[in-house]
Amino acid sequence: MTSKIWGGRFSAGPSAIMEEINVSVGFDQRLAKQDLHGSRAHCSMLVAQGIISPEDGDAIQEGLLRIEKEISGGNFLFKRSLEDVHMNIESRLTDLIGAPAGRLHTARSRNDQVATDFRMWVRAAFSTIDEEIMKLQSVLIDKAEQHAGAIMPGFTHLQAAQPVTFGHHLLAYVEMFGRDRSRMIDARKRLNECPLGAGALAGTSFPIDRALSAQKLDFDRPMANSMDAVSDRDFALDFLSAAAILAMHMSRLAEEMVNWSSAQFGFIRFSDAFSTGSSMMPQKRNPDAAELVRGKTGRIFGGLMSLLTVMKGLPLTYSKDMQEDKETVFAAFDTMELCLAATTGMIVDMQPNAERMRESAAAGFTTATDLADWLTQALNIPFRESHHITGKVVKLAEGKNCLLSDLSLTEMQSAEPRITQDVFKVLTPEASAASRNSFGGTAPDNVRAQVKAARERFLNKGRFS
Ligand code: ARG
Repeated sequence: MTSKIWGGRFSAGPSAIMEEINVSVGFDQRLAKQDLHGSRAHCSMLVAQGIISPEDGDAIQEGLLRIEKEISGGNFLFKRSLEDVHMNIESRLTDLIGAPAGRLHTARSRNDQVATDFRMWVRAAFSTIDEEIMKLQSVLIDKAEQHAGAIMPGFTHLQAAQPVTFGHHLLAYVEMFGRDRSRMIDARKRLNECPLGAGALAGTSFPIDRALSAQKLDFDRPMANSMDAVSDRDFALDFLSAAAILAMHMSRLAEEMVNWSSAQFGFIRFSDAFSTGSSMMPQKRNPDAAELVRGKTGRIFGGLMSLLTVMKGLPLTYSKDMQEDKETVFAAFDTMELCLAATTGMIVDMQPNAERMRESAAAGFTTATDLADWLTQALNIPFRESHHITGKVVKLAEGKNCLLSDLSLTEMQSAEPRITQDVFKVLTPEASAASRNSFGGTAPDNVRAQVKAARERFLNKGRFS
């Protein structure tokens, strides 16, 4: 006779290999808190509906509380032979309170149970990640404020394009992370319907109150279709896809930090806290943390692909394939937390080298657009023609291997005789950046205003979410 919960129909225990492939308690014990919470709600609903007696209900609640203490105190022994977290807890409940334990699973299946537990876990994870992204935004905004006027080259095609401010560049990431948060908040809302009471797939003949269970577990409402309730994992896919986009954003920022901290760029420096040496090359200060943030993106993308693949061929309703949903989500959560903490730490740590950035901003004829704009604005030359004249001036400077601002007025006039001394006012990177004061532009004054606005939009708790 097997001791399994379905022992009535089975006469032998599982083969060792069966147990090996089936067991999930090694990872799904992370759902223990949610499982207990779900069971307590289910139990009080059963009592409220007169499906089980108040005495049995009390015994169950007491037993579940004891189990909670055992788990939080590290005194609970999860057994592989009991397969998953749900059966481990139910079996322990039987040890503790005896017969009444057998009534807890009335009108419930592990299918709606696990769907409920996992939803609650992912719901909490959305909130945790949201807060951690907010911390990252907060340090980015502080850094942007400190360096609102620091001039650096802005790039397109990784070629110096136009001068921008370091603050403006950092605030671009604040926007990206803001969208990540709104994706999480949005997905959290969609997730917040309760599967409990769907039973194995078809509902139940017991007079349960699904709205009451949903309310006890802080869901907005019960899920409308019992078959959908037990077979849906969209919330986990929403989590993983939001995670993948967040990881992509962190990876882009990490890539920039890798570039900026190289000797070739020399735009930022990390302290010893965020640099590692080389075992052979004594001169090296490697940005390993940034590289790992970039590298760990692969795991999160992989998790999303993995779960999409698990789900794509499954007929309704539950199939055991779906047990594969948890590890990818747990791993993506852990990786996100680590990468968010590392990125936040690096942003606080990094010190920009304003002189080096300014020097680099002037190189590469980055104010050529300003010259063309000046020709159009001051001399009323059509922009296409201004562009052409500027091309000639750039060629001249290139030939002389000097900056645009190093050319003499006479040299400028060889390209367009109407040019006046005034032109030199627009050719410095500072003037260039300061002139870009259109909404969303890079001018230092704009950046200062955007810092304020970003604090309002993203850091005022309760407002954004
Ligand atoms: N450990 C299982 C899972 O994570 C729980 C649900 C099992 N349901 C079943 N019908 N075998 O999916």
